[in-house]
Amino acid sequence: MKSKNVAIVGTGYVGLVTGACLAEIGHRVTCVDSDKKKIQALKKGVIPIYEPGLPEVVAANRRLRRLSFTGNLEEAMETAEVVFIAVNTPPLPNGEADLSFVEAVARQVARSLRRYMVIVEKSTVPVNTGEKVKQTLRLHGKKGAAFDVASNPEFLREGTAVRDFLKPDRIVIGVESARAEAFLRELYAPLKAPLLVTDIKSAELIKHASNSFLAMKISYINAVAGLCEKVGADVARVAEGMGFDPRIGAAFLRAGLGYGGSCFPKDVDAFIKMAEAAGQDFALLKAVREINDGQRKWAVERLRKSLWNLRGKTIGVWGLAFKPDTDDLRNAPALDIIRALQREGARVQAYDPVAMAKAKPQFPGVRFARNAEDAARGADALLLATEWKEFKKVDLARVKSLMRTPVFVDGRNVFDPAALAALGFTHHSVGRR
Ligand SMILES: NC(=O)c1ccc[n+]([C@@H]2O[C@H](COP(=O)([O-])OP(=O)(O)OC[C@H]3O[C@@H](n4cnc5c(N)ncnc54)[C@H](O)[C@@H]3O)[C@@H](O)[C@H]2O)c1
Repeated sequence: MKSKNVAIVGTGYVGLVTGACLAEIGHRVTCVDSDKKKIQALKKGVIPIYEPGLPEVVAANRRLRRLSFTGNLEEAMETAEVVFIAVNTPPLPNGEADLSFVEAVARQVARSLRRYMVIVEKSTVPVNTGEKVKQTLRLHGKKGAAFDVASNPEFLREGTAVRDFLKPDRIVIGVESARAEAFLRELYAPLKAPLLVTDIKSAELIKHASNSFLAMKISYINAVAGLCEKVGADVARVAEGMGFDPRIGAAFLRAGLGYGGSCFPKDVDAFIKMAEAAGQDFALLKAVREINDGQRKWAVERLRKSLWNLRGKTIGVWGLAFKPDTDDLRNAPALDIIRALQREGARVQAYDPVAMAKAKPQFPGVRFARNAEDAARGADALLLATEWKEFKKVDLARVKSLMRTPVFVDGRNVFDPAALAALGFTHHSVGRR
């Protein structure tokens, strides 16, 4: 393989992992970000996010001089053969994706384009963004500048991002020219992964269609959990029975507080909006979203059901991040639930193994506990909101002895309801007796 010169614009969860991992497979990568503090930290070897395995990959490749950081895109483009756009695409108030960061990068790239380059959309973007990027490059670039635009959606999961990138289920590239296809095939060749080549629009849709499908699985099992509660069945056994069918699969059939994070909620919203703009009412996904919102309300209702009035009560919350093994708090169910509890006058004491530093500035009214036991101390009820492994190892008998009243809401179905009952907890699990 001939190693390539790569520029990545946007050094967040996706950009940093992409940059570090492309360096790991032998390319020379420059990661660019407009956030000066982030670049300064990275230059000193400080990794701004919690992602298992990432610090080691970054350090090793910096040592080999295959990975560097800069705030200056023009400088990175001097040697680059390919530019990945990996900036954020946050939701607008109406649910559409805000593409202003993508546009800003496309304009900057256009101004520095001196020779043929492949410009790759790595951010999750709505269908037709490739067209818009192309238009922008033509409008702001030098007349006749040679480039290809490609779509290469990212499927990594926070918490296992490095492994997901280096051992992907598939790589999708949407291209319009044989030259861009050949280039990207070569770039990814060392990964020896299944590679699907499509047109740009199909590649763009694959990402939204995949995330929305996974969100749908989660909402489906949560709706089944609601029914299980009503009829007295156990959703864990129902999911187990469904999962044996290879057409269904066991993954993403865990009832709980629903999906959160920086991707699923915004991607479902954006997909609904995208369909609407194209003249299609994606009613199925509207129901997915509604069911998901309902799971957060479920937690507050269960606490209310057990404690009657929440005013003046102390609620311990285990877990803040939207899922284990990440410090990402974006759209985390725990945060919505804490806000709802505070609105009702409850006091909240929370503990998360890694996300507390990021949560503290957002929640001045919350007492941040030293550990899981400390979050239970004196509590009228405990809510498990994120299924960190560490919570599974806690001595529940001791936890119960620390609480004012032994009410346990297991929002992620981590514990066996029978075990909670045997310990004397008044307990609620999602869709389980
Ligand atoms: N986080 C995930 O798990 C994940 C997975 C797959 C896809 N995605 C998608 O990838 C994209 C990036 O997500 P993320 O989680 O890495 O976002 P992020 O917010 O962590 O990082 C984005 C970075 O882009 C930088 N940036 C913004 N505008 C810039 C500009 N003009 N020039 C240089 N840098 C700029 C920001 O400073 C930030 O550091 C989004 O579209 C997201 O939907 C995310």
